[in-house]
Amino acid sequence: MALLAQVLALLVGLAFVFPLAEFFGFPSLPPFYAALIIGCLAAILGYAWGLSSWWWVINLLFVPGLFLAYSMSIEPRWFLMLFAILLIVYWGVFYSRVPLYLTGAKALQALSRLLPAGKTFRFVDLGAGTGRVLGYLASTRPEGVYTGMESAPLPFLVGRYMAARAGDSWSLRWGSLWGADLAAFDVIYAYLSPAPMPRLLLKLKAEMKPGAVFISNTFALPGIAPSETVELSDLHGSTLYLYRHDDIITAKGAQST
Ligand SMILES: C[S@@+](CC[C@H](N)C(=O)[O-])C[C@H]1O[C@@H](n2cnc3c(N)ncnc32)[C@H](O)[C@@H]1O
Repeated sequence: MALLAQVLALLVGLAFVFPLAEFFGFPSLPPFYAALIIGCLAAILGYAWGLSSWWWVINLLFVPGLFLAYSMSIEPRWFLMLFAILLIVYWGVFYSRVPLYLTGAKALQALSRLLPAGKTFRFVDLGAGTGRVLGYLASTRPEGVYTGMESAPLPFLVGRYMAARAGDSWSLRWGSLWGADLAAFDVIYAYLSPAPMPRLLLKLKAEMKPGAVFISNTFALPGIAPSETVELSDLHGSTLYLYRHDDIITAKGAQST
């Protein structure tokens, strides 16, 4: 939608705004103003189409930003390099709609307290990023066995390096979280985004084993009340949502397919 807004804004600019400017006696609109007009049109379209407010800002600044970057005569290879870095960090985000951001310190401490006491357990972080959660828990609650799934290349490689540095007290697997067999775990953790939660609920329903718990950072499962919530009073006002196996199995919000 945002891209479409940019394309439409450009077409509307070319078709109407610039001929009108010429008509009113501004035959050569300075290029930066032209870029700004296109940005404003794109922002208005984003607003009219109901995109989130941060998209209005991106739409507004995109073409003026392109223009400014272009006028700085920066070597094109820097853009290519930056693009390549973004690609290997945010791999697949276009489809998954789950970017990389890491669990904060308060969430880590709260998570550590929520883990089963007095017994060994198997823990998985679905979309483990650089393995920050796994590394922290493996050192504070060493009675657990910690695994993560990660599909973005750079976070995965950093995570593998960190795991090796920690003496392989936790492990990180390359691949999609949708391929993980959740029946193997007692504690399933995820810090994703609202987008995959309905599908994740179906997967949990189909695979979670009796006695297991699912803990989601910030993003609740749709249509199902958690057994427990932990408000973190951190910078983002995050919450941990804890769901027991029975909550999930009896959830009416999703049907297994
Ligand atoms: C918000 S980050 C959370 C990182 C880590 N769990 C933490 O809490 O610090 C989400 C991660 O999930 C990964 N991810 C998104 N979709 C995925 C998928 N289908 N399979 C595996 N990883 C995925 C992203 O690449 C990103 O690293």
